[in-house]
Amino acid sequence: MAAQKKLYIKTYGCQMNVYDSARMADVLAPLGYEAAAAPDDADMVILNTCHIREKAAEKVFSELGRFRPLKARKEKAGGRMILAVAGCVAQAEGAEIVARAPHVDIVLGPQTYHRLPEMVARATRAGGAVLDTDFPAEPKFDFLPRQHASSGVSAFLSVQEGCDKFCTFCVVPYTRGAEYSRPVREVLAEATHLIARGAREITLLGQNVNAYHGAAPDGGTWGLGRLVRALAECAGLARIRYTTSHPLDVDDALIAAHRDVPQLMPFLHLPVQSGSDRVLAAMNRKHRADDYRRIVDRLRAARPDLALSSDFIVGFPGESAADFAATLSLVREIGFVQAYSFKYSPRPGTPAAALPQQVPEEAKAERLARLQELLTEQQRRFNAAAVGRVLPVLFERAGRHPGQLVGRSPWLQPVHAAAPDALIGAVMPVRILRAEPNSLGGSLAAEAEALA
Ligand code: 5AD
Ligand code: SF4
Repeated sequence: MAAQKKLYIKTYGCQMNVYDSARMADVLAPLGYEAAAAPDDADMVILNTCHIREKAAEKVFSELGRFRPLKARKEKAGGRMILAVAGCVAQAEGAEIVARAPHVDIVLGPQTYHRLPEMVARATRAGGAVLDTDFPAEPKFDFLPRQHASSGVSAFLSVQEGCDKFCTFCVVPYTRGAEYSRPVREVLAEATHLIARGAREITLLGQNVNAYHGAAPDGGTWGLGRLVRALAECAGLARIRYTTSHPLDVDDALIAAHRDVPQLMPFLHLPVQSGSDRVLAAMNRKHRADDYRRIVDRLRAARPDLALSSDFIVGFPGESAADFAATLSLVREIGFVQAYSFKYSPRPGTPAAALPQQVPEEAKAERLARLQELLTEQQRRFNAAAVGRVLPVLFERAGRHPGQLVGRSPWLQPVHAAAPDALIGAVMPVRILRAEPNSLGGSLAAEAEALA
């Protein structure tokens, strides 16, 4: 066994990054690295970065500046702090990071995490930064060890990576590369392993997860709908979710899975970005607003209690007041229970950044405020409608107050209730008594019945 060393990973951005950070910790565990909650005195620090929004690179540089004195202090004490930058900013700005932040030892893109041990060895032996932002021919998943840390009641499982859609605003196809799906056998093996370690819920992850097309044991290729059916056969797994999806890849098999698989939760994050056909075309989303409406209708016909979440961009270049009004109409019609909305921000190297007719900042801010007001109201109404109902809640962990647990409703609402620790990992009926803006409170239904 190697001597024990402290590893601190700071994660930004999406759930893919959360998953990747856990896998980097797994890869480094055999070298003696153990996760630490704080960076002070760490032997290795990894910033797992996100490039999706504005000034991402600048934020990374200022964060790196903060690590300079920590690293110097460690060296003064005769130790060594290896500083690594991973994730999408590393992929996009690797050379710039090496040039501008000489105290960085390793810069690695999302496709090379399996090579981390070798990079650490090289960085330890030699001076100078190790830069690896390749898109290697070998899929990293073939080289990553199994998940070590107990991932808890609700676990993430990455099944797909990269994106071939090339929405004109988005950096992902450049930073994460081409679409890749892990073989079915591998996914099921990892799921079985997670369940054996206590997972009751698995969220399948991918930048474009419903574009999944994994090599199957029957010699064919399975889509996400078929994969979900196979997962549902894993004993002990109570809930299945997936994120993030593209409307274009919602196929018949996936809709049928929503109809037939009770473990597949009735909550779907399905980004639409805009309600205007003109804007959708300029975004290269490859569908119209009505296509989205039709898909939602079909999903709701298959699973009537399905609730939707979405992503929106306001102020895309050329977006007129009428285009924005079309987005508001779509939101009113569909009704979202949760959403992320952003002002358009030009990302260097993406086609939309070079478009004329950039929308002025004030118009973006005003539209964002109006959209968010509507979305917040829809979320509030959805949460309020839960009061008085009994919902199945999967308890995940202890709550803030003693004797309290926190779990999730089928629609991903956090639910707080007084319950014994022994119920962590159980799905229990909870009578909902209160709705907060972002969570619900209730009591175990049997108790509520006794009190009534
Ligand atoms: N500007 C604003 N929002 C963006 N997103 C992606 N790229 C941009 C950008 N350039 C948003 C999209 C996407 C979510 C993850 O981030 O809504 O679905
Ligand atoms: Fe980006 Fe569009 Fe791909 Fe989503 S589908 S990751 S927004 S390019």
